[in-house]
Amino acid sequence: MAANKFLLQEFPWHNRYLVSDDNSVLTPALVVYPAQIESNIRSTLNLLAGNADRWRAHIKTAKLSFTLRMLLDRGVRHFKCATTLELFQACENGATDVLVAYPVMGANARRVREIKENFRRVSISVLAEDAEQLRQWQGADIGIFLDINPGMNRTGIEQSSRKRVVDLARAVKQAGLEFRGLHYYDGQFGAVGEPERTVAAHAGYDQLMELVRDLELAALRVPEIVTAGTPAFPCSLAYEAFHSANFIHRVSPGTIVYNDATSLAQLPEPYGYVPAALVLTRVVSQPHRGIVTCDAGHKAVSADAGVPTCLVMGHPELTPLSPSEEHLPLAVSEGAEAPAIGDLLYLIPRHVCPTVNNFDAALIVQNGRIESVERVSARGHEGPLLGDLVADVQTPRS
Ligand SMILES: Cc1ncc(COP(=O)(O)O)c(C=O)c1O
Repeated sequence: MAANKFLLQEFPWHNRYLVSDDNSVLTPALVVYPAQIESNIRSTLNLLAGNADRWRAHIKTAKLSFTLRMLLDRGVRHFKCATTLELFQACENGATDVLVAYPVMGANARRVREIKENFRRVSISVLAEDAEQLRQWQGADIGIFLDINPGMNRTGIEQSSRKRVVDLARAVKQAGLEFRGLHYYDGQFGAVGEPERTVAAHAGYDQLMELVRDLELAALRVPEIVTAGTPAFPCSLAYEAFHSANFIHRVSPGTIVYNDATSLAQLPEPYGYVPAALVLTRVVSQPHRGIVTCDAGHKAVSADAGVPTCLVMGHPELTPLSPSEEHLPLAVSEGAEAPAIGDLLYLIPRHVCPTVNNFDAALIVQNGRIESVERVSARGHEGPLLGDLVADVQTPRS
């Protein structure tokens, strides 16, 4: 089978990832490295010419209050999130502006309103693509971004439906709500190489700029445009018209705070990104010649992006095979020495975002030492009942 171009094939071992006091570590364990997060934030700010204001960081990867605070301490103030728990955590940790970049409806919308009531100083905005979604924000101090479908076909108004966009922006104003701008998440280019990725992204931005012109002609000022996650954000930054526009343009990568075997292949070496979250695992079995098994099944290292689910740092001779819930078998290359039962291995996930979400807590490691254990505070979802309903439901006896 041909190697996947956008999956790192190997990564050399470096001592900065060593957890030296590993005796009492229960595996699988999520290990987070602040020095490497720091370096990833710095690399991103360098690409943004030092302007943290152009980054609307998606926090579905960061997930830990610890990491959120690192972003805030380095001047990042604008965030995106996908769940009400992420929204709550962003507000609680001091974010000043959060876009719920997920179409919330019903009780979820009521929860967003409730959070806004509790954090009045935080500017909270949401997505809308039709009038029904607008109605539920009536009377709330919540801003509206119109969600535009950039061809990813996941959410948003079709990019070619320009009249619909203008009509809805007008309806936002008529409803007495604040029109914050356009949300355009072109996340479909992850498997497209360069220069094709930039060409495709820019063709989309040309259409987006036409939408902006239509809105301006209708006397609807566009305050902000948000584009791009990790693979496409350098394409966004290279788009000239975003620099000289009347609106503020922000990019919204999230994966780059920790990185994974996919993002490091999408944005290779010269971008300066490094892994900042690994899964520490132990070899627990040698079931067959040429196979060892470690304790990092798909309940630890997410399998949503496919197999292999990860790569083993410093061990190009080990190839992760199909995992089960708690087991991850690794094929050992012909002629190579197999790790012994009990050996520790460090895994770089293929998809770090859901992998972080698999853990309740993370070990924070600096210079080989475990400095603290931090809660993955935005893990999972809130609920399942809104606060005012919980009291009406009998709590089952344990
Ligand atoms: C709406 C939205 N914005 C931004 C991002 C961040 O993208 P990435 O994970 O590639 O950094 C995502 C990722 O899923 C997303 O869904």
